Amino acid sequence: MSSLSLTAEAPAAPADADDGVWLECIECGDTYAPFDEIRYTCDCDALLEVRYADLPTWDEFEGRGVWRYSAALPFEVGVTLPEGDTPLHRVPRLEEDLGVESLRIKHEGMNPTGSFKDRGMTMGVRVAQELGVDRLACASTGNTSAALAAYGARADLETLVLLPAGKVAAGKVAQASLHGARILEVDGNFDTCLDIVQDLAQRGEAYLLNSLNPFRLEGQKTIGLEILEAHKEDYGEYPDRIVLPVGNAGNTSALYKCFRELVQAGAIEPDEVPKLTGVQAEGAAPMVEAIENGAEETRRWDEVETIATAIRIGNPVNAPKALPGIRETGGTAVAVSDEEITAAQRDLAGEGVGVEPASAASVAGLRKLREQGDVDADERVVCLTTGHLLKDPDAAAEAGADPEPVPGDTAGVLEHLGE
Ligand code: F0G
Repeated sequence: MSSLSLTAEAPAAPADADDGVWLECIECGDTYAPFDEIRYTCDCDALLEVRYADLPTWDEFEGRGVWRYSAALPFEVGVTLPEGDTPLHRVPRLEEDLGVESLRIKHEGMNPTGSFKDRGMTMGVRVAQELGVDRLACASTGNTSAALAAYGARADLETLVLLPAGKVAAGKVAQASLHGARILEVDGNFDTCLDIVQDLAQRGEAYLLNSLNPFRLEGQKTIGLEILEAHKEDYGEYPDRIVLPVGNAGNTSALYKCFRELVQAGAIEPDEVPKLTGVQAEGAAPMVEAIENGAEETRRWDEVETIATAIRIGNPVNAPKALPGIRETGGTAVAVSDEEITAAQRDLAGEGVGVEPASAASVAGLRKLREQGDVDADERVVCLTTGHLLKDPDAAAEAGADPEPVPGDTAGVLEHLGE
């Protein structure tokens, strides 16, 4: 049975485990000591996962935020700003409009740099310190670079970010810049940036903190733990489905790993695992294509385009971890148009929840799946919104109402208001 099966046995610790933690290849099963050398993938080129000899149950968690879940992580604490502990908003009008039993919005835009990337970065930078590296790097559609720059600055480490020229939202570039990252604007899309930064990392130029790095996903697992705990407290049960935007499919992989480990620990039953449901933009949908075709791998899309620049990605590196997650949980994947994304961004804003376009894709996807009859009316659904509205002020201004010029006196304002 594949180690990525929802009902796989808990793994036994190999001799090279460090304090019950090791890296294991998802394809060939080879294991590696986690902190003896810098390594991102297996010698066979497949992806690695962090594995643990002991998996915790619910009563071992205490405190707040990402590090509340340290019993499920490789370290007790890391460089923290602090991150996690994000709201699970109620959106009653949208819930009624979409016609589901319940709808909650897990707003990851409320993290310190405004996206879920902070959860992975608090962990990734802690590992970088353990390894003793002095330069951190990532390719990014923007949010990863903002998080890397902030956490790198906090840890007093040099940071280098590669961005696709002209395709990163203004707020994200501003963050990376002010937090002191060296910003390289690459003539190419995100996938080209990631190819280059992987080459740089292999040559020892920098420590790679994209989600190819298995430790990033350990931090991001905590989204799943927070959702399950909060949802159970409010409704007495776990959600039936979690809908999330997909780019590199790191979050999808992290949530699936979270649920697999809970099942292995006996903390939840396999049939309680929420259906992982991925949403991509129509102009960048290799994961949706693979799910629809029943393919084992994604096809690399060389041309990608969408208003949701955060998920403007044609070669999702974590697909081998995420495709089994979507399939084994009984989930699905769906593509939405830029118009549907903008409409969902307005819907969320109308309930006071400000998100960037990629985040709104989750709600747009849920609407489409309801219309297609793929999501039932009796389902309890959580949509993940991954980044804050202010990340992309241009998209927000475009989607919102235009300011109205008025004269500088009360009478003129009243006249304009038509009163
Ligand atoms: N939503 C937002 C706002 C993102 O920034 C990203 C990824 C995703 C969704 C997709 O998450 O890759 O785990 O499937 N942004 C990366 C970046 C690629 O560079 O900031 P995923």
